[in-house]
Amino acid sequence: MIQEETVLLFSEETIQKRVDELGRQISADYSDVDELLMVGVLRGCYIFLADLSRRLSIPRRIDFISVSSYEQTKTTPGALRIIMDTRIDVAGIHVLLVDDILDTGHTLAYLLNILAARKPASLKSCVFLRKRNRLEKDVQIDYLGFDIPDLWVVGYGLDYADKCRALPYIGVVKTEQD
Ligand code: PRP
Repeated sequence: MIQEETVLLFSEETIQKRVDELGRQISADYSDVDELLMVGVLRGCYIFLADLSRRLSIPRRIDFISVSSYEQTKTTPGALRIIMDTRIDVAGIHVLLVDDILDTGHTLAYLLNILAARKPASLKSCVFLRKRNRLEKDVQIDYLGFDIPDLWVVGYGLDYADKCRALPYIGVVKTEQD
């Protein structure tokens, strides 16, 4: 059932089909490596990472990393810092950084810089949604689910005031003007 305050953007079927495709593509690209470490950016990544990791046909491990939230609003990003680091030392390891959404790009750019400095064997990124016209950083995206307009989206890990994350579809939050 679709919640009253959201409008459907991507159905569960559409999401799962795209995750299937990403899983196949990533499995093929890493078919000749011993192991892949998927590093999820908490908290929004948790459903996408769970689904994507189960689609891979290659050996993989899972880890997480978390950065501080923006200090003020979504449109006024503050300084970022790591508040929970990976448990695994990424040096010499093939790393895929996984996040649910790219908005300004600051989070991913920050984390890619930090992880690259730790000398992994390779470092790529996978993001499910990207708001192209919000980007402020020229950030490297190797695998992308969908480009979306600048809308407030929820579900599939994405939240509205920490709610709606578990919705199986992605919806747009209706504002009072809608
Ligand atoms: C969201 C999302 C990304 C980040 C993207 O996390 O999961 O990590 O924002 O924004 P940016 O491209 O502008 O840096 P959020 O801070 O909402 O925390 P959450 O994952 O715990 O919901």
